[in-house]
Amino acid sequence: MTLSILGSGNIGSALAGHFAQKNIPVSIANNRGPASLEPLCKKLGSSITAVELAGALEADIVILALPFSAVAQLGDKTDWAARIVIDATNAIDFPAFTPTDLGGKLSSEVVAEYLLGARVVKAFNTLPAAVLAATPEEGAGRRVIFLSGNDAEARIAVSAVIKSLGFAPIDLGNLAAGRSQQFGEPLVMRNLLLQS
Ligand SMILES: NC(=O)c1ccc[n+]([C@@H]2O[C@H](COP(=O)([O-])OP(=O)(O)OC[C@H]3O[C@@H](n4cnc5c(N)ncnc54)[C@H](OP(=O)(O)O)[C@@H]3O)[C@@H](O)[C@H]2O)c1
Repeated sequence: MTLSILGSGNIGSALAGHFAQKNIPVSIANNRGPASLEPLCKKLGSSITAVELAGALEADIVILALPFSAVAQLGDKTDWAARIVIDATNAIDFPAFTPTDLGGKLSSEVVAEYLLGARVVKAFNTLPAAVLAATPEEGAGRRVIFLSGNDAEARIAVSAVIKSLGFAPIDLGNLAAGRSQQFGEPLVMRNLLLQS
């Protein structure tokens, strides 16, 4: 399965660092284009490839590490039915830092509406970027990454990605069951370890 990251800010860079650490190939794209990513790729090594947005949108698994408000623009950019989407976004109103009012919908449900047919799995959204960037192994445990999504096979695939980076996936079930990992809910900012 091919992997890509959309966004090279706090979360995109943290994840790229883990893929590089494990020597797992991943492409990465941002708004400014591949040339702006050269320093990051040089620092992280050859498993990280800078690409145009269109190239990143061809991956089997696309990780959203960009602002929630940017997701709507991606709707017509690829055949989303062919992809698993890992949604690391949080829908937040700034500067209040409160959850955006989505009319009762979960933010990942809105993402799934924008990216028609995509198998959306929410993950990597609960830890602050600095914690996410740190080593996932801590003492006798591994840092927990919660996930939820409506497609069981996609959740298995995403759990495998999470494990491959050294984290401990905890599968909460479908998106509704995973409400507690959405921004503003109890599992956000919980930095938990699973003893291995
Ligand atoms: N920061 C955290 O601690 C944290 C924790 C959990 C979840 N999150 C969520 O993760 C997401 C990313 O947060 P962040 O802190 O990493 O943000 P960030 O540092 O501002 O980075 C955002 C990245 O998205 C890229 N981007 C914006 N619009 C784009 C588009 N249309 N196409 C491609 N790339 C685009 C930007 O490109 P350029 O670099 O070219 O401008 C930038 O690389 C947000 O939804 C946030 O709520 C953040």
